[in-house]
Amino acid sequence: MLTVAPEMNDFFETLEKAARAEASVLIRGETGTGKELAARAIHQLSRRDKAPFYAVNCASLTGEMLASELFGHVRGAFTGAVRDRKGLFRLADQGTVFLDEIAEMPLDIQARLLRVLQEREFVPLGGSEKVSIDVRVVSATHVSLRDAADANKFRRDLMFRIRVLPIFLPALRERTGDIEALAFHLIGEFSKSEGDFAIEGIEADAFDALVSYDWPGNVRELRNVMEYAVVMTDGPIIGLDALPPELRGEAPPNQKGSPAPSEVERMRRALTRAQGDREQAAEILGMSRSTLWRKMREANLSWPRAKRH
Ligand SMILES: Nc1ncnc2c1ncn2[C@@H]1O[C@H](COP(=O)(O)OP(=O)(O)O)[C@@H](O)[C@H]1O
Ligand SMILES: [Mg+2]
Repeated sequence: MLTVAPEMNDFFETLEKAARAEASVLIRGETGTGKELAARAIHQLSRRDKAPFYAVNCASLTGEMLASELFGHVRGAFTGAVRDRKGLFRLADQGTVFLDEIAEMPLDIQARLLRVLQEREFVPLGGSEKVSIDVRVVSATHVSLRDAADANKFRRDLMFRIRVLPIFLPALRERTGDIEALAFHLIGEFSKSEGDFAIEGIEADAFDALVSYDWPGNVRELRNVMEYAVVMTDGPIIGLDALPPELRGEAPPNQKGSPAPSEVERMRRALTRAQGDREQAAEILGMSRSTLWRKMREANLSWPRAKRH
């Protein structure tokens, strides 16, 4: 994790202490601030670093799928369960399980998770024998769990279990030193894969635009913007005209109509890089899969799908 900003001192101090401990960690921060990266860092700095690290996004699976992803099932436990599945809690034995977007976890799975964390053992779906587990749980959320609990969407008892050590990751706009450091780091990274010539710097007005922008998508969005800039620049110095419209203070073009040619070009490039994988392409573009789908339709852009392996 690259950082130079003094606003991150507290974060790293807490992260190092948390890594040495065994208690559950909850990382709070806006999307793209580096929560998953931080969870991996905690694992790598911990005594569990030789054992596996598994990440699961609680928002991306339905209740039953999430339960079987976490706790496994035995063959025939439900329609479609054609063979045994171990589940991440067993696969990550002695290691760390990272529960991303924990606030989105359905309530019935929350109840199961609480029981597993309390008893350190559980019976897989459809199984008859208890299995013991030894895993460290690190969770992340971009919303306040307390608010989710007040709205009866999150169990208060589970909240106390998983946020023994809360860590807060500041938004990128609150650590402007990191905007500069990361921008140059990313230029170096993307120049290797994308650039036609060595990039030597950023013009003053483009730099001001980077620093004063709000960065709602945080470091993830900065990555996308710097990749865009490296591709779009016509010379070794990145100017304002090589930055995407939202950084130039313009509204994104054609909000409702069809996407602008530059945006279609970005989508093409993302789809090429992702080899047709929509999810990965959407991630590269910093948009949701449904937005990508909609924009592709508006632009009348068809693309072969990725072959699943
Ligand atoms: N401090 C950092 N240094 C380098 N890369 C970072 C940093 N923070 C985030 N990133 C990158 O930004 C992207 C988003 O980070 P991620 O951990 O997935 O964020 P979150 O889980 O909070 O949405 C990733 O590509 C990650 O590698
Ligand atoms: Mg994430």
